[in-house]
Amino acid sequence: MSAVAPYQPGLEGIVAAQTRLSHVDGQEGALILAGYRVEEIAPVAEFEEIVYLLWHGSLPTPTELETLRQELAAWRTLPGATVDLLAAAARERLPAIDALRMAAGTLDLELPAAMHVDAKLGIAVLARMPSIMATYWRLRQGAEPVPPDPALGHAANYLYMLCAEPPSPAAVRGLETYLNTVADHGLNASTFTARVIVATRSDIVSAITGALGALKGPLHGGAPGPALDMVFEIGDPARAEAYLRAKLEAGERLMGFGHRIYKVRDPRAEVLAAAARTFYTASADKRELYALAAAVEATAVRLLAAYKPGRNLQTNVEFYTALLLHGLGLPTELFTPTFAIGRAAGWVGHALEQIATGRLIRPAAHYTGAVDRCWVDIAARTAAA
Ligand code: COA
Repeated sequence: MSAVAPYQPGLEGIVAAQTRLSHVDGQEGALILAGYRVEEIAPVAEFEEIVYLLWHGSLPTPTELETLRQELAAWRTLPGATVDLLAAAARERLPAIDALRMAAGTLDLELPAAMHVDAKLGIAVLARMPSIMATYWRLRQGAEPVPPDPALGHAANYLYMLCAEPPSPAAVRGLETYLNTVADHGLNASTFTARVIVATRSDIVSAITGALGALKGPLHGGAPGPALDMVFEIGDPARAEAYLRAKLEAGERLMGFGHRIYKVRDPRAEVLAAAARTFYTASADKRELYALAAAVEATAVRLLAAYKPGRNLQTNVEFYTALLLHGLGLPTELFTPTFAIGRAAGWVGHALEQIATGRLIRPAAHYTGAVDRCWVDIAARTAAA
């Protein structure tokens, strides 16, 4: 039997892959996307530029960018069976993230043979995910789905298919900044899931479907909705302290705070807070919501330090995700699916990287069950009972 490393719950600190996509420095509070700090690149790049950077390791030339834009725009239309499935899910009023996870499994339908290779499937998956979510959301509202507009970029087309009207440049910039900020983040749970799946020589569509399942949990991508609900429930900065104390006294977790890797403020929170500010300076009631969120953040961080000393629980990406996406007019239920639409860039990039290694991921477990038992047949077990 070969030597095994000591059991590490949650695989904390275990290095399970090599990647050139992104680096997370939890002590410094830094996120590097293929060499660029997130705060430098996310607020200015087009989402397609980030996709190219993650998949190819360098920023695209104008021709390369245009080719990727056109390829993504070409595969946005959903297969008929996907739309039927979404209509069935809408009739049952399923949560949007579940509809996305179900429909993701159909993404390799109605593609020519040339698209059934890993990198091309990645393009089709990325292109179709916003179409799934916008189509589903409209069906749920009893509205007609809006066909994609190939003249629009990835982020703009998502907003257009959701709202049936051309989005403002400010809204497109806000969403683009969001998608860029969450596009990749080291070996997080859903990315690891995607890598494990393709490492068995399964396929990209299976990897994305599995990753969606991992993302939806409240400890990963499911937190922004509850984080915003919490801000609304508090309603007034004066109530923040009593409300948050009550939650912590009851042993509850505050959504939007704490991180396995970051022990300082998540750098993505800063990028998203800055992007959100532009949507909350327009009118007095919006300014009030932003001020309320900032007060809730400050109180939460202070109380977490008091209730969980030494844990360094700081604001994570989800807190300002909630505020930014709300500012963009997205319903709370679409927060996690929209996270998935951004993170799909990283999932595909990691899946391609993992496929290139050709190595199956197969950790070990320490056995803690019984030993040396002898078989007793059912008649003897019945007699003994
Ligand atoms: N609110 C209150 N307490 C928290 C907390 C939070 N948001 N996050 C962690 N803690 C506490 C735990 O209860 C635990 O306390 P204990 O030692 O007294 O039992 C301690 O801090 C360590 O928690 P642990 O679960 O080991 O940390 P982790 O590194 O596994 O957790 C998260 C990381 C993200 C899962 C965790 O911080 C969390 O649940 N946050 C809330 C959900 C969230 O915002 N998710 C989005 C992540 S981007």
